[in-house]
Amino acid sequence: MRKIRTAVLISGRGSNMVSLVKASKGKNYPAQINLVISNNLDAAGLDKAKDLGIMALAIDHRDFKNRKQFEAALDAVLKEAKIELICCAGFMRVLTPWFVSRWEGRLLNIHPSLLPKYKGLNTHERALEAGDKEHGCTVHYVTAELDAGETILQSRMKVLPNDTPNSLAERLLPIEQATYPDALKLVATQIQSST
Ligand code: GAR
Repeated sequence: MRKIRTAVLISGRGSNMVSLVKASKGKNYPAQINLVISNNLDAAGLDKAKDLGIMALAIDHRDFKNRKQFEAALDAVLKEAKIELICCAGFMRVLTPWFVSRWEGRLLNIHPSLLPKYKGLNTHERALEAGDKEHGCTVHYVTAELDAGETILQSRMKVLPNDTPNSLAERLLPIEQATYPDALKLVATQIQSST
């Protein structure tokens, strides 16, 4: 079966992107990562992607007058590379309804909480403040409303008595890195069977 051409959008470290790239190199994995794009020139993930042999480039949102123009440039690069599916992985720009509607059903995100809990930022702090016994991550479709699209996969972990926001983030990260490739596999397999 043909692998689905996929781009990963990042803003920083890019550890989830690395796990997607590694998974995608598997012979029977249904997606390939063709392109990594960062909105931040200094994102450490750009070099990590290049080291893995993936084309990686920065489109600095500050070079554009407004969100729409930044997204138009992003969209043009994605279309030029014949991308079919996008994974946001620590991409810290909110996408407008214009961009989201162009990629409806083809735009995924990983969020560090058990959505619908804790949309937005500071998810680990908020889970601790609420006294939650469980925390986790969610891979979901991106829709115009922030962190509100349909869930594809969710993974859970226990909150321990001495947890801090940092310890939660640190324990959650490998769980995220395992969950995202599984979610991408599900979506890419669906696209394969519908095209
Ligand atoms: C991850 O924990 C991801 O869930 C989070 O940013 C981190 C990126 O790490 N994303 C969000 O908070 C999105 N709102 P990474 O760059 O090492 O993959």
